Amino acid sequence: MSRVAIFGAGYVGLVTGACFAELGHTVAIRDVIASKIDGLRAGKVPIFEPGLDELLERNAERLTFTLDVAEAIDGAEFVYIAVDTPPTYSGDADLSRVWTVIDELPQVGGDPILVMKSTVPVGTGEKVRHALDTRGLEHVGYASNPEFTAEGTAVRDFLHPDRIVVGAFDPADGDRVEQLHKGIDAPVVRADVSSSEMVKLASNAFLMTRISFINEIANVCEAVGADVTQVAKGIGLDHRLGPHFLRAGIGYGGSCFPKDSLALKQLASNSGYHFQLLNAVIEVNELQKRRVINKLKKHLGSLRGKTVALLGLAFKPNTDDMREAPSIVLASRLLAEGAEVRAWDPVADASDILQGVTFCDSPLETVTGADAAVIVTEWPQLRELATAETREAMRRAIIVDGRNLLDPDEVRAAGFAYEGIGRPTTAFSALPETPEREPSQESQR
Ligand SMILES: NC(=O)c1ccc[n+]([C@@H]2O[C@H](COP(=O)([O-])OP(=O)(O)OC[C@H]3O[C@@H](n4cnc5c(N)ncnc54)[C@H](O)[C@@H]3O)[C@@H](O)[C@H]2O)c1
Repeated sequence: MSRVAIFGAGYVGLVTGACFAELGHTVAIRDVIASKIDGLRAGKVPIFEPGLDELLERNAERLTFTLDVAEAIDGAEFVYIAVDTPPTYSGDADLSRVWTVIDELPQVGGDPILVMKSTVPVGTGEKVRHALDTRGLEHVGYASNPEFTAEGTAVRDFLHPDRIVVGAFDPADGDRVEQLHKGIDAPVVRADVSSSEMVKLASNAFLMTRISFINEIANVCEAVGADVTQVAKGIGLDHRLGPHFLRAGIGYGGSCFPKDSLALKQLASNSGYHFQLLNAVIEVNELQKRRVINKLKKHLGSLRGKTVALLGLAFKPNTDDMREAPSIVLASRLLAEGAEVRAWDPVADASDILQGVTFCDSPLETVTGADAAVIVTEWPQLRELATAETREAMRRAIIVDGRNLLDPDEVRAAGFAYEGIGRPTTAFSALPETPEREPSQESQR
C-alpha cells in the first residue's frame, strides 16, 4: 500500500482521497482553507456528494487533513494535484493554483511522482516537467491522470470507472500510477502526457456536443410537432450512438463543462485553429438557457410583476454545486424582465449568488402564489409536483419542465398547462387564474 498526498480538498480531491483510502492507501489531504481542514478533522464534509461522508468515516484511520505542505508531502510516494482550474477572463484555464502547489513543493528525497488530477490545457505537463527540472527536482516523476467522475455519482464513478487514463513521460512512473489503482476493475489507457491531457478535454467536449445536438433537435421538434423524448429513445438504441447524453433540457452547467469547453476553444485558437463545432456547441447552450423565458412569455405575456417559481438550483441533481448553474442565468433574466423570483433547492445554498430571489423551504411553499413553476434541476422530489395541492397553491397552473421530468399527459390531466423542452406544448389557452393567493412570508436565506 502507498502513501498519497492530495492537494485540494474539493469535489475531486476529497473523492480521490477517500477512494484511495478505501483501496487501502494512506492519504494526506492538504487545502489552503483553514475552515475546510478544521471541519474535515471534526468529521464535517464541506460538500454534498452521495456516499462520500460514509467513505471518509469508514477510512478515517488512513486519512489525515492538513494545511501544511511539508506534513502532507512527508513520505508521500504520490503527490496528487486536485486544485481548481477556473477560467480566466480570456477563457484560458487559470493555472495559478497548480503553479502554487509546484512552487511550494519542498526539496523532497526519494522518488515521488507528481500526478495531475486537475483538468489542465494540453502542454501543461511539459511545462511542469521543465519547472521541476529547473528546481532540481529531476528525481520527481510526473504523470497525468485526469478525472472523469461526475458530481452526484463521483464515488461510484471513481471506484467503477469506464477507464483509467495515465500519461507519463517515464513508463515506469505510469506503471506505478496504474498500480496505485489496483483493486479497481477498469481498462487502463496508457498515453503520452499531452494525449492524456487531451483525452479529458475532448471527452467533455464530446459530451457537450451531444447535449447541444439533442437540444437543437428538441428546438426543431417544437417547431415541427415532434417529441424529442421519443426521438432520443429512437436514436439511442442505435448501437453506434448509444443512449447517453441525449436528454434535452435547458442546457448544461457545472464547474467542468462550461470552463473546459472554453479552455479547449482557447487552446485551439491560441494554436491557430478555429474550433468551429465547439463554438457552436457553446452558443447553442447559452441560447438554450434563455428559451425558458420565451416559454413563460407565451403563457404570461410580459413577465413584469409576475411571480415565477424556480424549482432546483444546483446545476444537476445530487450535488450542491452552483457553479455555472443554468438557474443563475434564468434567475437574473427573470429579474431583469421585472418578475419576482421564488426558488427552492434541497441542498444548494444560492443565497450569496442569487441576489433578489426569495428562497423557500419546499416546492409547495415556492409555488404558492406563483404564475408559473419552472423545473430547473430534475431533483426526484419534483416528480410529484403536479398535484391538486400545487395547482390550488399557484396563481396560474403553469409548469415549464426544463428537464422533461414529468409526463405531459399526467400533468395536463391534473389541470396544468405544460411546457417541456422539445415536446408538444399546451396550446396557448390562458388557463383561468386560480383564486388569488399571496406568497407566504418566509425568510430569505
Ligand atoms: N468537479 C468535478 O466534477 C470535476 C470532475 C473532473 C475534473 N475536475 C477538475 O478537477 C479540478 C478540481 O475541481 P474541483 O471541482 O474539485 O474544485 P474545487 O474548487 O471543489 O476544489 C479545489 C480545492 O483546491 C483548494 N486549493 C486551492 N489552492 C490550493 C493549494 N495551493 N494547495 C491545496 N489546496 C488548494 C481549494 O481551496 C479547494 O478546496 C479542476 O481542475 C476540475 O476541472 C472536476
